[in-house]
Amino acid sequence: MQRALSVWGACRSFDLAETDAIAAASGRILIVDLDLSDPATIGAARAALAPHRRGGTPFLFLLRDMSARCQMQANALGARVVLPAATAQPALLDRVGALLGLLQEAGPQAAQQRRFVRASAAFADLLEAAGSGDALPVQLIHDGVEAINRAAADADLDAWLDLVWRHDDATYQHCLLVSGLVAAFAHKLGFSEADRQLITGAAVLHDIGKARIPLDILRKEGPLTPEERAIICRHPQIGHDMLVAQGGFAPLVLDAVLSHHEMLDGSGYPRGIGAERISDPVRVITICDIYAALIERRSYKQPLPPGEAFAVLVGMGGKLDRDLVRVFGEVVLGTAVSRLGKVLGPAGPRDAERVA
Ligand SMILES: [Fe+2]
Ligand SMILES: [Fe+2]
Repeated sequence: MQRALSVWGACRSFDLAETDAIAAASGRILIVDLDLSDPATIGAARAALAPHRRGGTPFLFLLRDMSARCQMQANALGARVVLPAATAQPALLDRVGALLGLLQEAGPQAAQQRRFVRASAAFADLLEAAGSGDALPVQLIHDGVEAINRAAADADLDAWLDLVWRHDDATYQHCLLVSGLVAAFAHKLGFSEADRQLITGAAVLHDIGKARIPLDILRKEGPLTPEERAIICRHPQIGHDMLVAQGGFAPLVLDAVLSHHEMLDGSGYPRGIGAERISDPVRVITICDIYAALIERRSYKQPLPPGEAFAVLVGMGGKLDRDLVRVFGEVVLGTAVSRLGKVLGPAGPRDAERVA
């Protein structure tokens, strides 16, 4: 839930016993998930929440027992909203977004936000299942993919990116970013509706193997040791094996998960295969994946502006599909010629490869 709630910004969780930490925490909203049938818990909650109640922070209570007594108890503790603990995650995220004043009620932006929240909630369940070894929730993945595709069809990539940057969790940010880029790119390339669904689904799942990589390595600040790098480089194979073990995933999805770090010149991993064995959909995903990593803010690196990130793709030369990179430029830089000219200097886009 903490990860899912990060769609609205940084989220921390506390145990009720951490009274001092709760009192010292500053936040825009408090979500309280406690057993209010226990008088000792109620007493502790009253003390822990008091400074925030005085400060006017809104409380949202999740109750496992929705009896009138427990609801009254929650209200007495200062609840502004009371929901059953079993509330579906998208509905919970909507309520939290509304309480924070971040969720628009109407208009095209509101629709985009709701799609983003849906996709984000689907990711929460997906990563949770992947990390714990449960079967991946195929229907939820499908719902998330549909939301991303509709967002891309609206051709409002900027609005999607604004929402992605608000998300506090780097893994989510990356998956939502790559998926949004792939959906927009597939749209630009004229993929059929069915093919767009398929390739966006592959993008959603491309890094699923990272759910099994220790978090202290994934989130490490500073350079990785060769051993740590080797562990991270296992994620395509791990992800592929997870999907094969579960069964029912399209060959394109399996291929993308396994081969999204392969390069056309054979310098990629895990297999070092070359252009003849790297399909077009995988090439599309690889371009979006690298571009996303370049424009993301990470603890160990500054984000690159879109133009500079695109110049890096161009500079990779024969590792990536040059024709696809060119079209991708039109997706991320708007009118490629004018904006690329600014990035690469007065010589203009024709010199892109030489500059690189
Ligand atoms: Fe990856
Ligand atoms: Fe990735």
